[in-house]
Amino acid sequence: MKLSDVKLIQLPKILDERGNLTFVEGENHVPFPIKRTYMIYDVPGGEIRGSHSYKQLDEVIISLSGCFDLVLNDGVDTVTYTLNRSYNAIYVPHGLWRTLQNFSTNSLCLVLASTDYDEADYIRNYDEFLAFNQDGN
Ligand code: TYD
Repeated sequence: MKLSDVKLIQLPKILDERGNLTFVEGENHVPFPIKRTYMIYDVPGGEIRGSHSYKQLDEVIISLSGCFDLVLNDGVDTVTYTLNRSYNAIYVPHGLWRTLQNFSTNSLCLVLASTDYDEADYIRNYDEFLAFNQDGN
């Protein structure tokens, strides 16, 4: 995968003076059926999550509260997205090296995932990630 396969998704925003509402639909706003969701929260200052790649898993990442950086690398180039609005989501296809960092206090990260959790799908070593990509996977 290349960084050009990453997509910025603007989620619907229903503005209401009683409070705003945003919704997410699998196979619509998210380009896959949502199989699993997980959250990352209570991240101590300076900690880094992620730093791995997936062989098959596609994700959509959203900041529900606070702010954090999503750093993506395709083996050649790196791009950093700062997420700080619950209606802005980022589609991260498999095959990219992805890191979450610079979490603000009380930040809450929501991840929508295309598959069940499977440790065998992870590539946790950057050199292995480069080799896996070079093999044309
Ligand atoms: P992991 O995805 O490795 O997070 P990070 O890369 O930020 O460290 O998840 C950490 C641990 O949580 C992992 O070893 C197993 C567990 N886990 C599950 O059991 N199910 C899940 O859906 C996820 C995402 C993680």
